[in-house]
Amino acid sequence: MENSVTPTPRLWWQDGSIYQIYPRSFQDSNGDGIGDLAGILSRLDYLVELGVDALWISPFYPSPMADFGYDVSDYCNVDPVFGTLADFDRLIAAVHARGLKLILDFVPNHSSDQHPWFLASRSARTSPQRDWYLWRDPAPGDGPPESRPPNNWMSNFGGSSWTYDQRTGQFYYHSFLPQQPDLNWRNPEVRAAMYDAMRFWMERGPNGHGVDGFRMDVLWLLIKDDQFRDNPPNPEWTPGAASFWSVLPTYTADRPETHGIVAEMHDVMSAYPQRVLIGEIYLPLRDLVAYYGFDPNAASSGQPILRGADMPFNFHLIQTDWNAEHIAQLIREYEKELPPGAWPNWVLGNHDQTRLATRVGLGQVRTAAMLLLTLRGTPTLYNGDELAMTNGRIPPNRIQDPAERNHPGMGLGRDPERTPMLWNATSSSAGFTTGEPWLPINDNFAEINVEAQSAAPRSVLWLYRKLLTLRRKYPALHRGSIDQVNAHNGVLSFQRYAEDPQSYQPQRLQIFLNLTDDLQTVTCEAGHILLTTILDGDGAPVEGNLLLEAGEGMIILLS
Ligand code: NOJ
Repeated sequence: MENSVTPTPRLWWQDGSIYQIYPRSFQDSNGDGIGDLAGILSRLDYLVELGVDALWISPFYPSPMADFGYDVSDYCNVDPVFGTLADFDRLIAAVHARGLKLILDFVPNHSSDQHPWFLASRSARTSPQRDWYLWRDPAPGDGPPESRPPNNWMSNFGGSSWTYDQRTGQFYYHSFLPQQPDLNWRNPEVRAAMYDAMRFWMERGPNGHGVDGFRMDVLWLLIKDDQFRDNPPNPEWTPGAASFWSVLPTYTADRPETHGIVAEMHDVMSAYPQRVLIGEIYLPLRDLVAYYGFDPNAASSGQPILRGADMPFNFHLIQTDWNAEHIAQLIREYEKELPPGAWPNWVLGNHDQTRLATRVGLGQVRTAAMLLLTLRGTPTLYNGDELAMTNGRIPPNRIQDPAERNHPGMGLGRDPERTPMLWNATSSSAGFTTGEPWLPINDNFAEINVEAQSAAPRSVLWLYRKLLTLRRKYPALHRGSIDQVNAHNGVLSFQRYAEDPQSYQPQRLQIFLNLTDDLQTVTCEAGHILLTTILDGDGAPVEGNLLLEAGEGMIILLS
């Protein structure tokens, strides 16, 4: 496979792994039932022991919490529920002191409707900040103006994406909730203000080093059609399904002009060494990889060849069936689509998706862990997945997520994957808080928690620890090439290879992952086992036929 481009020098985020923290649910330090920055600080040693390299923290900016922090009312501060800027300074100092990196979640597409920018924009049609958001007149026609949205664009959270403002007689656009108005990224003042906020965080902290990167929320939605054309109807939509999909997002997503903005963000960050720009982007592979910003002619003009996101998040493992054929095909296609020099990445879970253990089943969580941590490219893991946390059960009176409230019973709610981290079994709140947790604690906390799994040498937590240790130790895993990606009888297999005669012997690793619920036989070249998912048999020599239990995976160092 043509993928052995290994840019030098290597950057930390290429060799490293990323751990996502959903701060409301990680660790509460003050008994209010909501996690906070001081709580994260108190758990850093757990992350060091786990063996990850960077933390990405979902938003903790001041926010009315209509969408739990993804509605920002001040881009340069900390919401009191999470702490203070001084807490942030302590956290980043402690993160860096441990050799870890810190990635912030940045929300450029929309602010809160309580942000001073939007309050000013909304105050009058003549406001100097009117054009910071997307305002349109009602569509022509009869009936009251509020019943005539400018076009058929739909909100991700249900209903029209236009909300009427009585006072100024116009509609404003919101990709998500009415409390999350979209900023107008065509306006240079908006861009300058956002870039200043990014610089604020990149310089913040005791030694002025600041954050090591950003995960940019909904990066592919930043620009909307300048002619505000209607989206085409979606022929596959059936009444009763989520209203957002009644039209195709042709004019509201992945607009060509977005790439120019991402290039600007890239340039802002390039002024600071070793910062990573990650984009949250849900698109088919070919459109996704365009966000690396590859320009074949750039080198001759002195520009970087890649002037985009360092890692457009690759969510395709979440969206692909848990099937060896399909995953093998996905890996091959992704590797083929990557532009020259682009560094791959893989994600298996986050705060918007059904928990990994619930999606693939407890019988497959170990192969999932081994897959994520042996593929070529930076892995991102979601807090709690290292324990095989399952979706929580949310009684109707405890529902928090607006996605569920607006579309009840359609399975769109994200509370189940946001339940508190399970630290121990000593109290009814699993060590997360001394108060009443904001979401219920999972029923299975007595078995699935950090303390219990730390004491059980063959637990899923230990598997993650060992995989992360191996990944660090073997260049074949953290920087090598990938080839021989195959599927046979439901077993996914591939090889990882690295050579650097100056530093180490060539390494070739064979990975086998039995994604079925049956025993399978594979054939292997001579070598010895480095790790099995059941954490048994390490070091044993292998050659010829090998039996793999249901849901078993192996990493073999070939001779
Ligand atoms: C993507 C975030 O991951 C999600 O949680 C949020 O609701 C939307 N963006 C809106 O910001």
